[in-house]
Amino acid sequence: MSAPALALQDFALLDDTECEERIVAAKRKLGSRCVILGHHYQRDEVFRHADFTGDSLRLSREAAKSDAQYIVFCGVHFMAEVADILSRPEQVSILPDLAAGCSMADMANRQAVERCWRELTQVLDPEQTVTPVTYINSAADLKAFCGKHNGIVCTSSNARKILEWSFAQREKVLFFPDQHLGRNTGYRMDIPLDEMVTWDFTKPLGGLTKEQIRKARIILWKGFCSVHQMFRPEHIDRFLERHPDTRVIAHPECSFEVCQKAQYIGSTEYILKTIREAEPNTRWLVGTELNLVNRLAQEVKPEGKEIHFMSPTVCMCSTMFRTDPQHLLWVLENLAEGQVVNRIKVPESDARLARLALNRMLQVA
Ligand code: 13P
Ligand code: SF4
Repeated sequence: MSAPALALQDFALLDDTECEERIVAAKRKLGSRCVILGHHYQRDEVFRHADFTGDSLRLSREAAKSDAQYIVFCGVHFMAEVADILSRPEQVSILPDLAAGCSMADMANRQAVERCWRELTQVLDPEQTVTPVTYINSAADLKAFCGKHNGIVCTSSNARKILEWSFAQREKVLFFPDQHLGRNTGYRMDIPLDEMVTWDFTKPLGGLTKEQIRKARIILWKGFCSVHQMFRPEHIDRFLERHPDTRVIAHPECSFEVCQKAQYIGSTEYILKTIREAEPNTRWLVGTELNLVNRLAQEVKPEGKEIHFMSPTVCMCSTMFRTDPQHLLWVLENLAEGQVVNRIKVPESDARLARLALNRMLQVA
């Protein structure tokens, strides 16, 4: 019989330096049996231990091709779910802190989306006319909903291709949970704003008229990211007044007004790539999470590139921040002792359908 799990409370008060040394030792002991995936929003003390770093698309591809027995996901809950769905049944996906969720993902749930689908039948036949598209920032059962209804998953780096695919299937798209990613992407595909309506999930028929629904090409769920909504167009205006030569780059989870003022829009991976590849001595105003921006600023400083955070107030993703070295150490030392803690396991009934929608995405994009 294996030893009982090491208790989290014995790790909570360890200082970061001790954690650092013990994480390195535990990783060495586990060797190729364990892979650590780290999202760009992770704090430095955790991020530096990742074997692979990336945006959500890149990390889901890494999870799908990994041979490791244990996939430790330093990110948020939906990412560890995707790792579980795309990996083989004998592989184990682990989230170091189970409280690391995503507030945007929580803005849509299966019940509310099912209700929306039912209510749409008052106006049209959704099975024939609507492709459901879920942003990867969503629970597994919503990906399963998309799998069941011939829909698909997208990430912030492939949303355009996925929408093109979706319109090739059916004339309309129901896009959840992030209204901004949907609107910003649709607009860049020349879909007029009045053909992208917002479905208010607290109101009957989403607060829309039948005519609005008939006319709509994209029905946008009224969800948003609480971190990216902190960036405002006036932040850009004020900065440009002082430094007109600044290049503005934003994540598509930012509002439409912010994205309208940005010259570059894309995923976390795109933001890093664009600035890394830019000419030296350029100045950038960046609208995405603070940990990424701070790390990038340090990295490109030697090339004379100046990186500024778009908001005057600190906005970090508090749930990404939950994964600290103490939790990471706790899961790794348990694994080294043969104990699995914080496994994320999606029920097979959902996983099967969610896999369909995820694999469609991986094939299309
Ligand atoms: P990326 O896919 O760009 O990494 O975005 C994930 C995310 O949660 C952004 O808020
Ligand atoms: Fe979710 Fe926003 Fe955090 Fe991304 S930054 S994980 S969308 S809450």
